[in-house]
Amino acid sequence: MLRAIRWTALGLIVFLMAGWLALSVAGPGPSGRALEARLASFLGLSPPQAGSAGFGLGIGGPFRLTDDSGRTVTDASFRGRWMLVYFGYTSCPDVCPTELATVAAALHDLGADADRVAALFITVDPARDTPKVLAAYVRLFDRRLIGLTGTPAQIAATARAYRAYYQKVASGDGNAYHMDHSSFIYLMGPDGGFEDLFSSGTRAADIAASIRSRIARSS
Ligand code: NI
Repeated sequence: MLRAIRWTALGLIVFLMAGWLALSVAGPGPSGRALEARLASFLGLSPPQAGSAGFGLGIGGPFRLTDDSGRTVTDASFRGRWMLVYFGYTSCPDVCPTELATVAAALHDLGADADRVAALFITVDPARDTPKVLAAYVRLFDRRLIGLTGTPAQIAATARAYRAYYQKVASGDGNAYHMDHSSFIYLMGPDGGFEDLFSSGTRAADIAASIRSRIARSS
């Protein structure tokens, strides 16, 4: 019984990951709504009536966390700026450093427009990633990156809102562990709404282009 549940859960995760990937490789450029529509159709959900508020598939939402200087911040703290949101942890051996380097390169690519972007690195390992640890880590990539941590409950709620997955996995003896986690970069609009999603491996230039075209359209 337990085994069946485990396999069902694993199957569901693989299915969802494949869905994300299928959407992401379709290329940059589509509006958040178009992306949401593709996601809805992929998941077999019926599209909403024209003009309705959304698909009920919301990605993102309210959060309350602690930034890398120790201040409490919420999603509203970043309203009026575009948000690039990435979930990971500072002890991550491979994917996180690569993705943060990509975010940093995208900010560089944006030039002055980067001032309109808040690039958030939200840890899924709050036990080890204190504000101080986060501050030292994110500044290795770009001084503009903002590290966010919180209580386990705050992190869980934020990850749930963004449909991000993470799981603590024991490695070897003693207390050693690593975190399995999904690895998407989310682009949220100045109103906090979902705009675009980038799978790991997306080029910085493509992320910058997506942001730049949206800024152009909104001004
Ligand atoms: Ni990672």
